[in-house]
Amino acid sequence: MASVQNAPQEPTAQQLSELKEKYTLAGQSQVFTFYDSLSSAEKAALYQQLSQFDPTYINTIAAKALAPPQAQDAAPSLEPLPDSARASIMDSAPADIDRWYSQGLDLIAANKVAVVLMAGGQGTRLGSSEPKGCFDIGLPSAKSLFQIQAERIRKVEQLAAKKAGTGAGVTVPWYVMTSGPTRGPTERFFKEHNYFGLKPENVFIFEQGVLPCISNDGKILLESKAKVAVAPDGNGGLYNALVEAKVLDDMKRRGIEHIHAYCVDNCLVKVADPVFIGFSASADVDIATKVVRKRNATESVGLIVSKNGRPDVVEYSEIDPQIAAEEDPQQPGVLKFRAANIVNHYYSFRFLESIPTWVKTLPHHVARKKIPYADLESGETIKPAKPNGIKLEQFVFDVFPKLELSKFACLEVRREDEFSPLKNARGTGEDDPDTSKHDIMAQGKRWLQAAGATVVSEDPNAGVEVSPLLSYGGEGLESVTGKTITAPTLLE
Ligand code: UD1
Repeated sequence: MASVQNAPQEPTAQQLSELKEKYTLAGQSQVFTFYDSLSSAEKAALYQQLSQFDPTYINTIAAKALAPPQAQDAAPSLEPLPDSARASIMDSAPADIDRWYSQGLDLIAANKVAVVLMAGGQGTRLGSSEPKGCFDIGLPSAKSLFQIQAERIRKVEQLAAKKAGTGAGVTVPWYVMTSGPTRGPTERFFKEHNYFGLKPENVFIFEQGVLPCISNDGKILLESKAKVAVAPDGNGGLYNALVEAKVLDDMKRRGIEHIHAYCVDNCLVKVADPVFIGFSASADVDIATKVVRKRNATESVGLIVSKNGRPDVVEYSEIDPQIAAEEDPQQPGVLKFRAANIVNHYYSFRFLESIPTWVKTLPHHVARKKIPYADLESGETIKPAKPNGIKLEQFVFDVFPKLELSKFACLEVRREDEFSPLKNARGTGEDDPDTSKHDIMAQGKRWLQAAGATVVSEDPNAGVEVSPLLSYGGEGLESVTGKTITAPTLLE
């Protein structure tokens, strides 16, 4: 908590004039329009906020992000990833999958694996003001997404400890990236729920950065007389935050070598998945990613591709619809580009250590938004009816092209087992709380049936919620063999 002593101080005349000069030279002096009329506390806060940014750098990244492609720029060559860089759970030999699983569990047992969660998004499409991870998708247990993920971590620690015969002593640290708007509520939620049974010292909540919002004519926008309009810098802000928040230092201290990073909204995410860790570590790659088959040409998912011979993602908001709809010449009726990005990434620690050498070169993407702004004449905050400016965002996958294809791998997994994102408000019928709940309970039902139970119910769609503390991925359910279970129900 900020104490009174830590409250920002009003700058000296000299400090103020230096900062004003910086902004004036960059053509952004409008941010000081109301400065002289502010209270002392407001002056201090605005000065502190403006000091965080380098206005010349902001101008540069905004101009780059807005620059239209030049006629002389050759269209990039886009191809699906070559076979050498990908594998699929569906057609890999069971012996390979078992080997990856076993290697992954050994690495977890050796305390070399950490998990990074990206939870800085504001969930605008879901229409909830609380962080997405706190959301109750309507399971019989009423567990939140955070709780489900935390319990998977606890379970995978237990499975690894059991395999290694070490009893206790296995830790998968969980690094949770939040943003200005989600940090406070996330911290409170974790505390209120006793970190879901994890040790607080192994849960590291940190914050990504923000960037100013820019008007359509390139000016930094004020949200009110005393505050710059800012927005989180996108999930690609992860890399900067890993360094700035000293997450990498903590990983180094713990001897972490393999990292699984994922998005908060996927209720089926296999957190610290041993198969994925084993697959990636044994291939000795620096980054790996999981994909599922894209549902149709218009699904809002990025596509993993090879672009000019390097691994890359073409985001759904930026893809040419014609390319999205192209068919595979070998398989008519099947999309050519179908490797849907589910934002489950593997990183080697050695690669993350190189962040400072390239982080400033990551591109920014433009999101055109309706941004509330202070009118420079009246000082009143106006809510525009149509997009009046841009937010600049980095994408977490923009680091992929830094690698040669030989240092990158892609693992195709089953959608029904690993991907059911919560994007939309209830009632949308797609990627909403009801589909999340359904997909978890359908998976539980399949696990029980595979374990030899009979699941009966009046409603053929009814499923079973299996607590992650009971089973991580369908294992350990021998106690239900031969039993009849009436769905819907919860197995704790
Ligand atoms: C994202 C992927 C897309 C993928 C899809 C699958 C990116 C840029 N796009 O799209 O390729 O197919 O998920 O579901 O990764 N977040 C932050 N900070 C931010 C913004 C977002 O931490 O500033 C986090 C969110 O909390 C969330 C994740 O990043 O966990 C994805 O954000 P979201 O905006 O929902 O991504 P999509 O547009 O759905």
